[in-house]
Amino acid sequence: MRAWDLPTRVFHWTLVTLMAATWVTFYYAEFLQDPTLKWHRWTGYALLVLVTWRLIWGFAGSSTARFSAFVRGPAAAIGYGADLARRRSRHFLGHNPLGAWMVLALLGLVAFQGVIGLFTVEHNDLTAGPLYKLVSEDTQKLLTRWHRLAFDWVILPAIALHVVANTLYALIKKDPLITAMVTGRKPRHDYEDQREAVIVVRPILRGLACLLVAAAIVFGTIAVMGGKL
Ligand code: HEM
Ligand code: HEM
Repeated sequence: MRAWDLPTRVFHWTLVTLMAATWVTFYYAEFLQDPTLKWHRWTGYALLVLVTWRLIWGFAGSSTARFSAFVRGPAAAIGYGADLARRRSRHFLGHNPLGAWMVLALLGLVAFQGVIGLFTVEHNDLTAGPLYKLVSEDTQKLLTRWHRLAFDWVILPAIALHVVANTLYALIKKDPLITAMVTGRKPRHDYEDQREAVIVVRPILRGLACLLVAAAIVFGTIAVMGGKL
């Protein structure tokens, strides 16, 4: 049965691709003959647009993509975690109450990393984020440090946890979450949250309209703050 709309799935795999590209374009900048990190900065902007898109889609998207459908309080998440530990099987069509917190954390971390990137300065003075002049030199250094440390020590471990959890769901719980993020469909079941996803009318057109709004928000904000891309 239908679980995820096409825009949400395209969003997820584009997010994965762009995160990898952002990492590669920094670490292989020399090989790419890109001393000013042009590629890294542009994949970073693309990630900021993508995360902004997901925030809009959380209100304008199909039923399982909406924040109102999956964001629940800590009690629900703890309760679900306890049931999971007791091997009491519970099934959700959208994100489960614990997974929902992971989703919010991942979105928040990518947004944090991207925003901080706008103020980051490069160690050899060849490049910087477009808004670095808005903050003092000390703050630039601090944010650059965070831009490095957050990625290695928070984002990478969070992604590893996310991938391991989803793989274990598939292998142990026989819950094909990864396949569902590809095909958009889940096996027939009595799901706790929704019977079947209600897909919005003309999802692709709607998704593209939201993408335009997201790009306008990101690039508009940078321009208003006096940043040059
Ligand atoms: C850069 C790495 C990754 C990031 C930042 C990331 C982030 C996210 C986010 C934000 C969501 C929520 C989707 C939404 O509601 O729009 C999600 C869901 C999901 N991701 Fe990833 N992801 C990454 C890599 C992966 C990989 C490699 C896999 C597969 C092995 C994967 C499998 C899934 C699955 C199955 C879901 C749906 C979980 C559920 O049913 O509740 N992700 N991911
Ligand atoms: C979510 C998006 C982003 C991710 C995942 C990301 C990731 C990274 C990583 C892993 C590094 C290497 C840090 C190190 O180990 O030295 C880096 C450096 C850098 N990033 Fe980003 N970045 C993102 C967005 C941005 C944006 C939007 C900009 C600016 C427009 C930017 C500008 C820079 C600069 C200038 C450096 C070099 C810092 C240095 O040389 O120490 N980043 N980024």
